[in-house]
Formats: sequence, structure tokens, C-alpha cells
Amino acid sequence: MPVITNIADLKRIYERRVPRMFYDYAESGSWTEQTFRENTSDFDQIRLRQRVAVDMTGRNTASQMIGQDVAMPVALAPVGLTGMQHADGEMKAARAAEEFGVPFTLSTMSINSIEDVAGYTNKPFWFQLYTMKDTDYVSRLIQRAKDAKCSALVITLDLQILGQRHKDLKNGLSAPPKLTPSTVANLMTKWTWGLQMLRAHRREFGNIVGHVDGISDASSLGAWTAEQFDPSLDWGKVEKLMNEWGGKVILKGILDAEDAKMAAKLGADAIIVSNHGGRQLDGALSSIRVLPEIMDAVGDSVEVHLDSGIRSGQDVLKALALGAKGTYVGRAFVYGLGAMGQAGVTKALEVIHKELDTTMALCGEKNVAGLSRDNLLVPADFGGRWA
Ligand code: GLV
Repeated sequence: MPVITNIADLKRIYERRVPRMFYDYAESGSWTEQTFRENTSDFDQIRLRQRVAVDMTGRNTASQMIGQDVAMPVALAPVGLTGMQHADGEMKAARAAEEFGVPFTLSTMSINSIEDVAGYTNKPFWFQLYTMKDTDYVSRLIQRAKDAKCSALVITLDLQILGQRHKDLKNGLSAPPKLTPSTVANLMTKWTWGLQMLRAHRREFGNIVGHVDGISDASSLGAWTAEQFDPSLDWGKVEKLMNEWGGKVILKGILDAEDAKMAAKLGADAIIVSNHGGRQLDGALSSIRVLPEIMDAVGDSVEVHLDSGIRSGQDVLKALALGAKGTYVGRAFVYGLGAMGQAGVTKALEVIHKELDTTMALCGEKNVAGLSRDNLLVPADFGGRWA
């Protein structure tokens, strides 16, 4: 068993174990990948303020996200095709999250279905909704999430059309993989993945296949989004979805202060400052760079969360110190899952937790509620001077 000390260790094992098509899917941004790269490099520009001779005993990373207790404010982000990264990936990741005490968010574009995950876990999880042209299908999806006792609906606002990720097109990304000479050649080097996948509950999009007719290729994320996603989604439709759900709502994909104010006005329980992991609008600013401006715009009128770029507990601390009440990891948990299944997701959470706890201690803070801008050294021009 290798000694895992950081998320990059998990990524190295993940890259060896998982078919290239799915590694590339997770590890891509759209077009030039500028936003994808800056999501992480912008975190690196912020430095931490070391404090000494502060009593470090009795530290605690526990807090709340949308009123729910969390062992640390780090949820698992919705990631499409997670069940292709490891057999029954969504079920395993959800269980790891539940045992750790952090929220799990199931993507609409998951492999395991809402019902699979509900049957495998004991605590409520969150469900991420993509809006489709077929409103009956969306209503059924919402009802399925209610029946599964999901405790929040995460409505994604930044993917009415899919950003282009070159590698997915070149690889012919599909779930399950289509057997072309190049995928077969790659799969022959991934025996463990393949043998586990043969025993998986599902190898197709579990929330879709069997629940909707008339898709030209139900195995292709690209075909499904192009044919089914609702390009006319607007704030009026968002409000209708919020009413239809009737429970806690998190609006995901906010990157602009005006949009953040609109989401707060609609009464969202939280917003997620996110550029979809750099997978949608390439050239948009990183999430961490826009966070301060969004905090200034919404104040306490809505809880603010952040995703895109978090690979460590230090990153989590930086987001919290800039005002976020919660953060999400997508790729960081997928690396763990692909590397070692459920144990790998637990390991990813343990790594981040330990980093957060130690960083807090060395910054002279005992709990996450005490974190503030005072813990950071932020370059004077970090927000940028854009016209
Ligand atoms: C969405 O599901 C994505 O691939 O980013």
C-alpha cells in the first residue's frame, strides 16, 4: 500500500488505473484550458499569515452548510460519469462522504441512479439538477429526488450548452466506452478497472436510461446535452424549479456579482461561486478571484459556497477566509475514487481535513468560524483591474 500524503499522490495512482477516456474527461477544461489552469494557480497567489504562540488545543473544523452539520465545510461536488471512474463510483463516494460527515452531491449525469445511491446510504444526500427541454422528465427527476429524501437541490445554471473539451471529442467519450481499436488497446492495460466494472450495478447514465425515450445516443454526454438540455433556462424558470422542489436550493455556477444578487433575491439557500471547474466558459475568471467581489455584493443575504480549483486544505482555508461558508471538491475526490475506490475518497477527505486543521493551527485559529481576511495575504491587485 503506497503512502499517500497529498491529493497529487492519489492523482498519480488514478492516472495509472483508470481508462484514459475517463481520466481525460475529469482532467480537462474547455478550449485552451486557461480558466481550468487559473482555478488552481490563482489559489497559489494568496499567501497565509503565520501567527505564533497561540494556544492550539481544542481545534475543530466542524461547521454548517445550509444549516446542516458538516465535519468540515467541504462537500463532494456533482461530477458526471463518476461511476465510470470506479465501479459504482457514486454509491461508494456517497458512502465515504456520509461516513466522514460531509455532504455528497449526486449529478444528474451520474452512472448510479438516485435510487441506487439512496439504497446504499443512510443519510440524505444532495441532488444536482440539469434542466431539460422535457419538463415532464425534469418533474419526474425532481420527484425521484424528493422520494429519495435528498436534503437539497443544487440547480446548475452554467451548462445550458456544453463547453467544448477537445479530448472528449477526440476520445469519443461515452458510458460505457465504445469498443474502438484505441479504447480496446487502452482498456487492455486496465484489468482491475474492467473486472470491477463487470460487477457494477450500472454502466450507463442511471438517471436517464430507462427514464426517457428518443435520445439518438444515450451513452454520449455530448449528444444528450445537445439534444435535451434547455437553452432557454432563465431566472423565471429557475424560480419555478425552486417552487416545484419546495426544499433547500443551492444555485451553482455563479461568477458575476449581478447574478449573485439575483440568486439572493430569489431566495436561494446558497449560491456556489463556480466556473464548472474551468469546463464551460474558457477565459472566465477563476472562482477564487471573483469571490471577494461577490461577497461584497451579497453580504449576508445568501450563504456563499465556492468550487473550482480546490485541491488542498490550504485552498479550503483561503476560500473560507475570503468569506465562503462552504467549499466543494470534484477532481480531488475523483482522483481518490479512481485510485482506490471508497477508501480513496475517504483518503482524499482525510488529506484535506488534516491540511485544513494544521493550516488553521499555524494561522493561529481554532475553528473555521474564526477564519477571516486577516488570516491571508492577498496581492493588492488580486481582483484585477478589468474594464
Ligand atoms: C458536466 O457534467 C461536465 O461534464 O462538466
